[in-house]
Amino acid sequence: MSKTIIISNRLPVQLQISDGGLTAIPSVGGLATGMKSVHSGGESLWIGWSGLTDEETPEALETEIDNALKKHGCAKVKLTEKDIEGFYFGFSNRTVWPLFHYFLEYSEFELDFWNTYKAVNQKFADAIIAQSDEGDTIWVHDYQLMLVPQMVREKRPNTSIGFFLHIPFPSYEIFRTLPWREEILEGLLGSDLIGFHTYDYERHFLSSVRRLLGLDVSFNDIYLDHRVIKVDSFPMGIDYKKFKDAAIAHQQSTKEKRSDFQIKLDDHKASAPDTKLILSIDRLDYSKGIAKRLNAFEYFLNKYPEYKEKVRLIILAVPSRSNVPQYQLLKKEIDELVGRINGELSTVNWTPIWYFYRSLPFENLIDLYTSSDIAWLTPLRDGMNLVAKEYIATRTDKTGVLILSEMAGSAYEMNEALLINPNNFEQQADTLKNAITMPREEQIARNMFLQNRLERYNVEVWANEFMGALNRKKEGSEPFVSQ
Ligand code: ADP
Ligand code: G6P
Repeated sequence: MSKTIIISNRLPVQLQISDGGLTAIPSVGGLATGMKSVHSGGESLWIGWSGLTDEETPEALETEIDNALKKHGCAKVKLTEKDIEGFYFGFSNRTVWPLFHYFLEYSEFELDFWNTYKAVNQKFADAIIAQSDEGDTIWVHDYQLMLVPQMVREKRPNTSIGFFLHIPFPSYEIFRTLPWREEILEGLLGSDLIGFHTYDYERHFLSSVRRLLGLDVSFNDIYLDHRVIKVDSFPMGIDYKKFKDAAIAHQQSTKEKRSDFQIKLDDHKASAPDTKLILSIDRLDYSKGIAKRLNAFEYFLNKYPEYKEKVRLIILAVPSRSNVPQYQLLKKEIDELVGRINGELSTVNWTPIWYFYRSLPFENLIDLYTSSDIAWLTPLRDGMNLVAKEYIATRTDKTGVLILSEMAGSAYEMNEALLINPNNFEQQADTLKNAITMPREEQIARNMFLQNRLERYNVEVWANEFMGALNRKKEGSEPFVSQ
């Protein structure tokens, strides 16, 4: 029976070796959390990196690792420390990530990174070939693996291959600065279907294909000599039911079952019932605009001092890519900013910012989503931003205000949120005031629309639409003969 092979750098779990043996911890990030829901319901095999390098893996543990991954429907690609350095910390996260998020000045064009990226993409392609059959459908994910579609196509010319990019595709003017731009496009064109979160990313991609490769592009079809490639936008949804049900269960649970985290949040509410909780959750990444958000918060408190002691900002930042210098600098900047703002503005009764630098279990994420009056998400660029959608899904009584950057892909579908430009402090200060004072009826009216849309266009529908388009392409595709 033919199956679907999902392939991404990050698997839904990361393995770690500690004193007690092997542990699997859930991965953080939109790709992993979104695809986990798709994967758990089906017959797919998910291939990716286990989180352990070859050097960290004693030979005696190999079988145990394979079995641990098998439990999650996964199989591993073996990578060395050098691979991870050049491919993951290097080309993926010091070249492509900053470039595609419009941080051109952070992007490093290192030949060594590029060579390792090519070699590691070949390892992923080889793993697909080894673990799949001719009739299987291959679904490749994200910017770490952009050469994989063409590498698989060379060995399996008739296999159905889809590719989905979870981050923005930048405008041609940005993309053209990449020394290996043609190779990246050619790698992606090994696919039958290429998907993006938004129409804008799709348009940028088509423009680069036309201008850099000189290929024929008509609407959203790209014509090669012998194949037609479809390009389309598929905004990724969330597992709406999972978040809604978790929020309902959370509200129904008895006092004794509350987590320590929730107890702390409840105590806070009880001692200061008029204080509004403003929440932000992100990986600690410069694309998320965390430092600017902190500055904007200080600006807000200075512009509207009547809200001192009446609001609290919770910043939950998940450690991410901490070997990359820009992330280390950002961590330092945020630590200092939080320290300075709290130092300058705190009173005996009030600390304006609660800052957590860690990953939290799902249960605590729900605690935070359900306890916060406002979610404030200010990415400077974000392919989608699922946190915005998750916050809305957990608001079972339909209250709560979402303030969302217009630079996030999710803003295209979330017009009823309060959309802001993260660079405009004046606008953000006024929007925060508006959110704090927004009447309950208005909150409910806005969230009703948002929830209906998120419930309808959930992650399962997203995956089905992508796979449906890929299957239609497979069934309908006659060999194309160029004129
Ligand atoms: P990105 O993919 O860039 O990290 P998204 O907002 O699209 O951004 O996805 C982040 C995902 O990671 C969400 O599904 C969110 O629930 C999860 N997540 C974020 N912060 C944490 C945390 N501290 N602990 C656990 N999971 C988290
Ligand atoms: C974003 C990317 C994913 C990545 C995730 C977490 O969502 O699109 O591909 O997995 O961030 O980043 P990490 O580097 O930890 O995998």
